Amino acid sequence: MSDNSRRSFLHRLAAGGAVLALGAPVLSACRSSDSTGSPDPDPPTPVDGRFRLRFAPEVSPSSLTLTAAAGTANIGSTNAAAWMLNGSLPSPLIRARRGDRFAVTMRNQLPQDLILHWHGLTAPEHSDGHPRFAVPPGGTYEYDFDVTDRAGTYWYHSHTHMHTGEHTYKGIAGLLLVQDAEEEALQLPSGARELPLILQDRRLDATGAPVYNNTGPAMMAGVMGAEPFVNGVHKAFVDVDSALYRLRLLNGSNARIFRLARSDNAPFVLIGGDGGLLPAPVTLTSMDLAPAERADILLDLRALQMGTRVMLRSLPFNMQGGMGFMGGANLQGQALDLLEFRVTRAVSDQAAIPTSLPPVSLPNAALSVRERRFVFESFQMNHTINGREFVMTRDDVVVPFGETEIWTFENASGLPHPVHLHATHFQVLSRSGGRGQVMPWETGRKDTVLLHPFESVRVAVQFTEQSGLFLLHCHNLEHEDMGMMVNVRVTTFPMSTHSSPTSP
Ligand code: C2O
Ligand code: CU
Ligand code: CU
Repeated sequence: MSDNSRRSFLHRLAAGGAVLALGAPVLSACRSSDSTGSPDPDPPTPVDGRFRLRFAPEVSPSSLTLTAAAGTANIGSTNAAAWMLNGSLPSPLIRARRGDRFAVTMRNQLPQDLILHWHGLTAPEHSDGHPRFAVPPGGTYEYDFDVTDRAGTYWYHSHTHMHTGEHTYKGIAGLLLVQDAEEEALQLPSGARELPLILQDRRLDATGAPVYNNTGPAMMAGVMGAEPFVNGVHKAFVDVDSALYRLRLLNGSNARIFRLARSDNAPFVLIGGDGGLLPAPVTLTSMDLAPAERADILLDLRALQMGTRVMLRSLPFNMQGGMGFMGGANLQGQALDLLEFRVTRAVSDQAAIPTSLPPVSLPNAALSVRERRFVFESFQMNHTINGREFVMTRDDVVVPFGETEIWTFENASGLPHPVHLHATHFQVLSRSGGRGQVMPWETGRKDTVLLHPFESVRVAVQFTEQSGLFLLHCHNLEHEDMGMMVNVRVTTFPMSTHSSPTSP
């Protein structure tokens, strides 16, 4: 087995459930059964100026304990302080099947309050990680629900108010992959041919360790860095076969938008987004991925010779009407080489790229009974929605369960805002201003949509799974922490019987 498939095999073995149900110590023992015998079985060793990609250990969500604590992680170029769940950077990869029970105990051994949010899952109110549920240092929190969402690339991260940016940056973030029979029928690349990848940018201090600095210009643009990290590894590479790969991509950056492309300009096939598979595959040579957005991509390396190296990179870009470089503080749109694929084994791979995908259920805009407007503004150091900053317990919007509505997200600022909604997925209907169109990667079920400066995006929204208090916010984590967030109360009674003075 190649390094990659061996590692992957061990991960699949570890993901078997029964073993992991016993918790973190067994997991570590399992990981260190890797051939190196070292405490870190996947050290990001240097080869030719880059560092070997590592994969998070895989865990099952049924009877899982996640302990948050400060520690030290090997990022390839150095050892660095990190905040981790079960001692892992990135956080463990949670692999679930639709219908699984999601029973997670979160133990907070960090010096700050903590709550975890399962981004993209329609979890019930109590398990959705609203910041009002954050527990103090030493506390625990129990999550318990059934996974009802379709197969897809979801993720999780800290949602502690005013600290989400810091916690996520320091390491409290991981992928959450849901599988189901519908997706398995497609026989997409799996095992060692499926690569879960968290893409992030980081700024390094004099010792080469990532440093979180949300002061000064970062209060406006968000925290960005010039250094590429994938799965917590600085300047990563991965050894691959000349085969078809499935990349499960997450933009886990606080503020940085990526324009993804292959360095050889060859196309790739996008098959999934935030809420699972798209209605149809889309062939692209580049696509934008904003913070919190996901992309499920088929990367065809079958035409490549042994020894070939291809970079997954973020291309440079400008945004119309944008605020520009801000004296060097704003790295938005700067090029970044994220991950190098090194073809180290020639194989023959007959895997098929699907030409069609199963139907996707989306809210029907024609059935809309109501419209709402949300204006995102950034002025000096204030980031507001409809002129207000977040208040923990105020119901800003009251939405009846099951009713279809059209929401307009309007960016009245020169900064980009990736807008995220909890507890459901929406359909992007149209965009005016800026790019003036729905982008080809915005089909399917979305939970995060990027607004370039002065763009307006209309989406169709329907809450069909949960009622209770949820959130709508900017996923630029510094904007979110500074209050660019509103509470959305989903009620089980119709609108006419309820009056909300504060609802837009
Ligand atoms: Cu990924 Cu409310 O967040
Ligand atoms: Cu979310
Ligand atoms: Cu924002």
